[in-house]
Amino acid sequence: MTGPRRPAVRLRRPGAGDASLSRRSGGGTAYAEKNGGGPSPLPLATAVILATVTPGLEAVCASEVLSRVPGSTLSATARGKVWVSVPEVGPALATVRTADNLLLHLGEVRAGLTRWDLQAIGRDVAALPGLEPILGSRPDVGGSGFVVNASRRGRQTWSRFEAGTAIADAIEARFPAWPNLTGIVAGGQGAGGRGVRVAVELRVDVDDERATVSWRLTPPSFRFRGPDRGFARAALLPTVAHALALLSDPRPDDRVLDPFAGSATIVAERAALPAASVTGIEIDRNVAVVARANLGPSATIVVADARAMPLDAGSVDAIVTNLPFGRQVLDSDEIPDLYRTAAREMARVLVPGPGARVIAMTTRVPEAIVAMEAAGFAGEVVATLGLNGQRPSVVRYFRT
Ligand SMILES: C[S@@+](CC[C@H](N)C(=O)[O-])C[C@H]1O[C@@H](n2cnc3c(N)ncnc32)[C@H](O)[C@@H]1O
Repeated sequence: MTGPRRPAVRLRRPGAGDASLSRRSGGGTAYAEKNGGGPSPLPLATAVILATVTPGLEAVCASEVLSRVPGSTLSATARGKVWVSVPEVGPALATVRTADNLLLHLGEVRAGLTRWDLQAIGRDVAALPGLEPILGSRPDVGGSGFVVNASRRGRQTWSRFEAGTAIADAIEARFPAWPNLTGIVAGGQGAGGRGVRVAVELRVDVDDERATVSWRLTPPSFRFRGPDRGFARAALLPTVAHALALLSDPRPDDRVLDPFAGSATIVAERAALPAASVTGIEIDRNVAVVARANLGPSATIVVADARAMPLDAGSVDAIVTNLPFGRQVLDSDEIPDLYRTAAREMARVLVPGPGARVIAMTTRVPEAIVAMEAAGFAGEVVATLGLNGQRPSVVRYFRT
């Protein structure tokens, strides 16, 4: 039996939704079981990878990909998207932590705006040469199939579901050995509960009259760091937390603190980078239990109040935090007081001098800046994100 020929990278989680992708398929150009352990099966002299990212963090994501993937170059960025050229689709890509999804760019087609155009869009997508290495051989497990997920932005008179269906029908006509699971598996993810599993997820993003086609390399749990991580209320996405950690100019000898640790998303992401120590403070015991379960021995959670931290003066080099700002955690009118008192404590526990760094995200930027200024810090906004319908800003502070 044969299967989709995948690049020598194992980005998707082997599991219900994608087990067939992690299996070795027949033939000399098969997907390598161990990362980097075999020849690259696709003719990828240069591949273009699309990384999707929280809007506002494109530059951080681009710079992370360039630093982690040898030989990569930045191709383009757009809101929430970063395209990079890479010499191979290899395991280095799986080390990128600021991207929500990684997709292999397969090509672009023109997308007409009316329903009459849907058939042509499907035909053109199905004819893309990049599909041949993916769907050109039979799936290696019975019941696996492909899905097409479409998104649209612009003046089209058709819906994204109509586009997805039309494109999937055209692909099915070209590659009849592949079951078309579009519309059967909700959202195109995971096991469908009918003995079907998605082996190949294609994504078609239509922006006005341009349709970009890509093959999703990462499972949905990629951005959550796997299926088992716990999140408390007001938790950040790990990908955003990692971006905050990178914005703190991380150094291997840093003693790092998150005084509002929550479920330790930032603590865990900062601990994934070299550091002397990473500590989180969380006032809620129950939340601290979730936080500890998310961490290995490389970080510590202390149940305490950020307004009176059980830490020595000058014992912290960098603070990276997501300040409480929504009604999920506190009443809105409690915020200015909390910020003022916590800022004074941050000033106390941070090392004296210009080496002290603070990265803090909140929607309540004026209150945060006023509080930090009163404690002897100047702030600059380094990013403003589009996050769950809110627009929190990331502010970097230095001692004045
Ligand atoms: C915005 S959430 C942090 C979310 C966290 N970054 C995560 O991803 O899970 C703020 C956290 O601060 C905690 N908190 C609120 N007031 C606090 C205080 N005075 N001292 C310490 N923690 C506090 C809340 O219980 C909450 O878990």
